[in-house]
Amino acid sequence: MTALQHLSVWAAHQLTSREDGKMVVGQLGQSLDGFIATSTGRSKYINGAGGLTHLHQLRACVQGVLVGVGTVVADDPMLTVRLCLGASPARIVLDPNGRVPPQAKVFQDDRVRRIVLTLNKEKLNLPSGVEVYELPKSKDINSWQVNPIDVLELLAEQGISRVLVEGGAYTLSQFIHTGCLDRLHLIVAPIILGSGKPGLNLKALSRMQEVKRFEVKAYGLEPDVLFDCDLRPAIEQK
Ligand SMILES: NC(=O)c1ccc[n+]([C@@H]2O[C@H](COP(=O)([O-])OP(=O)(O)OC[C@H]3O[C@@H](n4cnc5c(N)ncnc54)[C@H](OP(=O)(O)O)[C@@H]3O)[C@@H](O)[C@H]2O)c1
Repeated sequence: MTALQHLSVWAAHQLTSREDGKMVVGQLGQSLDGFIATSTGRSKYINGAGGLTHLHQLRACVQGVLVGVGTVVADDPMLTVRLCLGASPARIVLDPNGRVPPQAKVFQDDRVRRIVLTLNKEKLNLPSGVEVYELPKSKDINSWQVNPIDVLELLAEQGISRVLVEGGAYTLSQFIHTGCLDRLHLIVAPIILGSGKPGLNLKALSRMQEVKRFEVKAYGLEPDVLFDCDLRPAIEQK
């Protein structure tokens, strides 16, 4: 059975339905009270078996899985497909300032592409075989240093058009802010953390009229619940 057959029909459809073949999906595993990590930055594992399997299935459906350097430093994830059938996608670290540790698990050589996107190649000293690409510095000096639009353009040039943005909060927020996510898969675990790291950090809205509503479908992923949010109408409203 292939990974796509293994994945439920709706997800396979959503991940292959755009005419240009592009698809950018974000994922966040969070508690009932909206936190993606404890106050000490630990997130392994907020989600239960169903949520984790879904995440691996998502990885198996994309060409590249991208995380911010903060997630590599905090969690040291492998970002491989292990809980379902399917090939592991390219592993991409967004590291503008070259601070990713060279011994990070994402760089283990399993013949899968390992990519670092940075503003400063000189600072990096990475294991052989890791591809490094320099991004343009964002022109908006009041904002973030890297524009996610440039990230996706560079990845498309590298043949990576179906991308899973797996976190963390900062990276995902920038992708949402710039309208770069087609879908968000929010996997809510039946736990309350009380306090911790919030999932998203976006511009504050003062009036309910400014709030965008999305088309959302919910699916049980024992013991978690998946909210599959279609962000595309929100992108079109911009
Ligand atoms: N529950 C979940 O699903 C989940 C998933 C992933 C991570 N996490 C948790 O999230 C936490 C990490 O999240 P985080 O928000 O701290 O870190 P992050 O988003 O993983 O990485 C943030 C860093 O990446 C760089 N970066 C990302 N986008 C950028 C942009 N557009 N422009 C410039 N730089 C950019 C910056 O590096 P510099 O600071 O070097 O400039 C930034 O500080 C950890 O506690 C982890 O456990 C949870």
